Amino acid sequence: MNAITMLERDHVKVKALLTRLDATTARARVTRRNLFNRIKAELTVHETIEEEIFYPALKAHPRAKDVVLEGIEEHNVVDNLLGELTDLSPGAESWGAKATVMRENVEHHIEEEETSMFVKARRIFDHSELEALGQRMAARKITAKAAVRTIAAKRER
Ligand SMILES: [Fe+2]
Ligand SMILES: [Fe+2]
Repeated sequence: MNAITMLERDHVKVKALLTRLDATTARARVTRRNLFNRIKAELTVHETIEEEIFYPALKAHPRAKDVVLEGIEEHNVVDNLLGELTDLSPGAESWGAKATVMRENVEHHIEEEETSMFVKARRIFDHSELEALGQRMAARKITAKAAVRTIAAKRER
C-alpha cells in the first residue's frame, strides 16, 4: 500500500476515536479508560512507523527537513499528554480538560502532516518509492502492534 494512504487511514481512525472520547464524562470511567487505551495504542503504533520509516526517508530531503523536525516535536508533546493521562484517574477533575488538549494537539498535528508534510512527500517520492515505504511500514506495524499488546497485557496483570 501507498505509505501516505496508510498514514491517512490511520488519521481517520484515530480522529473518530478522539471524537468518541470527547463525548465521555467523568462518570463513565471504564469507557473512558478503554477508549483512551485504544487511542494510545493506535497513536503509539502510528508514531513508530512514522518516526522509524516515513520521517527519516523524508528528512533526507532538504526541502522537507524542517517540517519533519516539527513533526517529531509535536509527537513529543502528544506523548507527554498521553503519559499524564495514563497516570491520572479518568474520574479526576482535570482528566477531561487534559484529554481535550491532547485531542487538539493530535488534530493540529494531523492537519499539519496532511496539508504540508504529505504534500511535500508527494512531490519528493514517486509512486514506487511510496509503495516501497508502505510495504516497510506495514511490516513494522505488525511488530509494533504486538509490542503494544504485550505492554498492555503486563499492565493488566
Ligand atoms: Fe500521522
Ligand atoms: Fe505524526
